[in-house]
Amino acid sequence: MKGVVLAGGLGSRLHPLTKVTNKHLLPVYDRPMIYYPIQTLINAGIDDIMIVTGGNSAGDFLKLLGNGKDFGLKHLDYTYQEGEGGIADALSLVEHFADEGPVCVVLGDNIIEGNIRQAADDYRAQGGGAKILLKEVPDPQRFGVPELDGDRVLRIEEKPQAPKSDYAVIGVYFYDSTVFEVISGLEPSARGELEITDVNNHYIDEGTMTWNELDGWWTDAGTFESLLRATNLVAETGANRMSLGAAVS
Ligand code: G1P
Repeated sequence: MKGVVLAGGLGSRLHPLTKVTNKHLLPVYDRPMIYYPIQTLINAGIDDIMIVTGGNSAGDFLKLLGNGKDFGLKHLDYTYQEGEGGIADALSLVEHFADEGPVCVVLGDNIIEGNIRQAADDYRAQGGGAKILLKEVPDPQRFGVPELDGDRVLRIEEKPQAPKSDYAVIGVYFYDSTVFEVISGLEPSARGELEITDVNNHYIDEGTMTWNELDGWWTDAGTFESLLRATNLVAETGANRMSLGAAVS
């Protein structure tokens, strides 16, 4: 399975921090934000990785990450998202890279304490369809929120005013190669973007969506509050603890 880190967008919720640079290059404690999602993939045994970037400072990713030496990689792939089409639009750019195989997609501002190895193994065993990861949160209305019936996810609502559960759909997704066909059939949402939640609802309707609950803490880092929380959590407890020391010297 290949890995994708989505690191485009204008990061407008973080202005003026993101006026001249890309959100995913901002510091989270002792390293740039994008180091964490890359490490998440590597810790799950996924080392064939494409970075999707765009907006401000796209070229700086190459300067920062190069061929992935800091992570023990020999190579990284990059692609460029023009404009502000949303998460699903960014994902559509990796079709050629995915080469008919499954992908694990991580949003570049999502940071986890533990790892997704079990979820990746479960998804491989599933043999197709999609998998999402859920985490109980105090403020579900900020995220994609699942409606659950036991083990089944019935529907996901994007930033609902009246959330149907206390879970957030975190920014780590597993998809089979039909995802690109699904994206090509999407219409832009009210915020003018192709929504990853619409992709996920398609798999739910098809009956091929599964979910795992994430262990350990999770946070996004796309607002001032969550960026500060991410920094504090990493400083206090570490993130992707297993390989960080080895990865960065
Ligand atoms: C995106 C997704 C949302 C998900 C969140 C996780 O939201 O649309 O479903 O819960 O990432 O970080 P965004 O932060 O782009 O608004």
